[in-house]
Amino acid sequence: MQDEYAIEVAHLSKSFHGKPAVTDVSLKVRRGDIFGFLGPNGSGKTTTIRMLCGLMTPDSGTGTCLGYNILSDSRMIKRLVGYVPQAFSLYQDLTTKENLDFIARIYDERDYVVRVNRLMAELGLDVYQHILAGRLSGGWKQRLSLAAALIHDPQLLLLDEPTAGVDPKARREFWDYISYLTTKGITSLVSTHYMDEAERCNQLAYIVYGELMAEGTVDDIIQKVGLMTWAASGQGLVKLAQAMRSLPGVLQVVVWGNEIRICGLDAALLKQAMARFKEVSWHPAKTSLEEVFISLVSERTAGSSV
Ligand SMILES: Nc1ncnc2c1ncn2[C@@H]1O[C@H](COP(=O)(O)OP(=O)(O)O)[C@@H](O)[C@H]1O
Ligand SMILES: [Mg+2]
Repeated sequence: MQDEYAIEVAHLSKSFHGKPAVTDVSLKVRRGDIFGFLGPNGSGKTTTIRMLCGLMTPDSGTGTCLGYNILSDSRMIKRLVGYVPQAFSLYQDLTTKENLDFIARIYDERDYVVRVNRLMAELGLDVYQHILAGRLSGGWKQRLSLAAALIHDPQLLLLDEPTAGVDPKARREFWDYISYLTTKGITSLVSTHYMDEAERCNQLAYIVYGELMAEGTVDDIIQKVGLMTWAASGQGLVKLAQAMRSLPGVLQVVVWGNEIRICGLDAALLKQAMARFKEVSWHPAKTSLEEVFISLVSERTAGSSV
C-alpha cells in the first residue's frame, strides 16, 4: 500500500550566509490533494520547495517525498516529481514543440512523440507548437513549463508561483487543469499569492519569514486565528477608516468601495470602537483568508527581532 502522504517532512531549516531562510518547517501533503503554499515574498517558499524535491539540502530536518528520503534519494525523487520553477527556464530560442521533444529525450521517454502530442493537445499548446518559446505570452509560457514538467508522468507536481502575472482567464484554465490532474492521481503543491487560488486548495500552509504560521483547510485557518470582522456601508468611509485605525483593539481597517471592514481579536474592544461611530450601521461579517494572513504577518513581524 502507498503511504497516505506524498510529502512528509519535519523540522526543515536552511540558512544562507548565516541568515535563516526557513526555520523548523514541518509539512504533510496528502496524496491526491492540491496543497497551497502561501506567504509574503522572501518567506522561504521557493527554498522549501527545492528542499522537498532534493534540489537543495536542508541544514537540518528530514523527511520523505513519495516515500523516498529527501536527503539521500534525490535521484529517485526527481524521476517522480515534476517541478515548475518560478522563472521560465526553458529555451527561449526553441519552439514549443522543440522544447518538449528535447526534454522528452533527456528523460529517454520511448513514446515521446505520442506524449508530446498528447500534452500539447490537452493544454491547447498545439496551436503554438512552431512558435519560439520566447515569443509566447506569460500564460502560454506557464502552460509550456507545465507540459515540460509532465512529460515523464510524475506523481507529484511542485509549482512555484505558476500564475504570477497571468491574466484571470488563463489562471482559471490553469487551475482547471491542475484539478483535472488530481482525477489522474497527481498530487500538486502550488505556491501562490492569489486568495482565489488558495480557495481552490484542499489544504494550505502559510509561511512568514521562514516560519510556518498556519496550516489546514481555509475554514480551519480562519477559525483557528479567531479574528473577528465587522462591516458597514455608507459614504465618507475613508475618513471613518482613518479615525478608526488608531483605536485600541482595531487591528485592521479597510475600505472596499462603499464598504468598510474592521478586524480584531478582542470582541469588547471592537464593540467599543464601533460604538464611537454610530453614523453607520455595523454588522458582523465573515473574516476573509486575506484578513487572516495580514494578521499573521503583523503578528510575526511584531514578535520578531529581524
Ligand atoms: N541561493 C540563495 N542564496 C542566498 N540567499 C537566498 C538564496 N535563496 C533564497 N535566499 C534568501 O532566502 C530567503 C527566502 O527566499 P525564497 O525561498 O526565495 O522566498 P520566497 O520564495 O517565499 O519568496 C530570502 O531572504 C532570500 O533572499
Ligand atoms: Mg519564491
